[in-house]
Amino acid sequence: MTPQQITLIQTSWAAVLPIQDTAAGLFYQRLFVLDPSVRPMFKGDLAAQGKKLMQALGFIVNSLTRLDELVPVAQDMARRHVGYGVQAEHYDTVGTALLWTLEQGLGSAFTDETRDAWAMAYGTLAGVMKEAAYAPA
Ligand code: HEM
Repeated sequence: MTPQQITLIQTSWAAVLPIQDTAAGLFYQRLFVLDPSVRPMFKGDLAAQGKKLMQALGFIVNSLTRLDELVPVAQDMARRHVGYGVQAEHYDTVGTALLWTLEQGLGSAFTDETRDAWAMAYGTLAGVMKEAAYAPA
């Protein structure tokens, strides 16, 4: 990820923040359309879960310049997700739902460069998380 891509992610995230509750709602709607089988894994209040998700994404976005701090947090999170029933292939669906949500929220501000930057960052993060949670010991 280049410094310019990090800037694109951080700037576009700042534009999502004012509509974060709406964005979280859109994200889950889209996720459950893409893969209805994941719906039963969410046991609690989705609005509260959406706030946790947005908070975690905010932390990630702000930690892209400090990967030494981000990586262990992401690894712990991935291991907790195994207990929620999450499987490795679900990370692709979540990535698709996330990019779709950003596109809805940002409209024309979601440029090709911004999409590429998010896709790269999410792909890298998902790779680290899957490695931590599912790689054979
Ligand atoms: C970058 C990727 C992800 C982030 C930042 C993220 C964030 C979070 C956070 C902050 C929580 C709250 C509990 C905790 O921290 O352990 C959570 C719970 C959860 N996440 Fe994720 N998550 C990610 C990927 C996924 C994926 C791929 C799935 C698969 C569908 C998923 C499904 C769930 C479920 C089922 C819960 C528990 C919900 C409940 O208890 O009702 N997450 N996630």
